[in-house]
Amino acid sequence: MNDDLTEIKTFAKKCLDGDITGHDYFHVNRVAQLATRLYVADHAIPNKHAIFIIQIAAYLHDTIDEKVTDNISQRLTQIHNLKTIQALSSHDCENIFDTIQNMSFSKNIKHQHHLSVEGQYVQDADRIEALGAIGIARAFAYGGKHDNPIYDPRIPVMELTSHDQYRTKRETTINHFYEKLFTLEDLMNTSSGKKLAHQRTKFMRNFVNEFLAEWNLKD
Ligand code: ADP
Ligand code: NI
Repeated sequence: MNDDLTEIKTFAKKCLDGDITGHDYFHVNRVAQLATRLYVADHAIPNKHAIFIIQIAAYLHDTIDEKVTDNISQRLTQIHNLKTIQALSSHDCENIFDTIQNMSFSKNIKHQHHLSVEGQYVQDADRIEALGAIGIARAFAYGGKHDNPIYDPRIPVMELTSHDQYRTKRETTINHFYEKLFTLEDLMNTSSGKKLAHQRTKFMRNFVNEFLAEWNLKD
């Protein structure tokens, strides 16, 4: 088995080049490394092939995101045609496609799609990227690109009900912390993922508390 990720990385780089909302190549590269770190921490004898699958899925996961491309089916075909993908068993292939097509937060608002073990690590790593200092930076970059206000106390925090409502509702970036980001730690699949998510959520809560204290001139 050839564990070369060169072709996958080059493809991801080409697809994600130019994104300024935190879905760039640096993000998928961190997801690949983080997912591997979490998997290794949870497994006394890590399986090298599982790590290969985790890394392929991690590098590819945002190349088919509606935020990054407006031609998802063309992207899926391009992925199918990669030599690295063609060389995999059909079981591994299905695992990777199932993971990248179903792992997103928005696809799991109504009901949780059951992912493979490898997929669960990629999903946890991707969710952890929405937390901590990096998560804060990504949230404000995303909010800025979508013309969302930083904060407006007149806009209420809402409950997320569906993929479409999540994508189209008007919200402030501070509300996004309550509507999504603070809920992520309870959605983690894996034990090492839960631990890191908890740590990063704590940091983010401190940030929002400090933000609101400054906003209200109470600091
Ligand atoms: P997924 O791709 O898993 O469905 P999202 O697109 O919701 O996840 O999130 C990707 C990144 O964009 C995360 O860091 C997330 O916090 C950020 N993001 C998504 N929606 C908003 C928003 N309305 N305001 C601020 N950040 C957002
Ligand atoms: Ni991602």
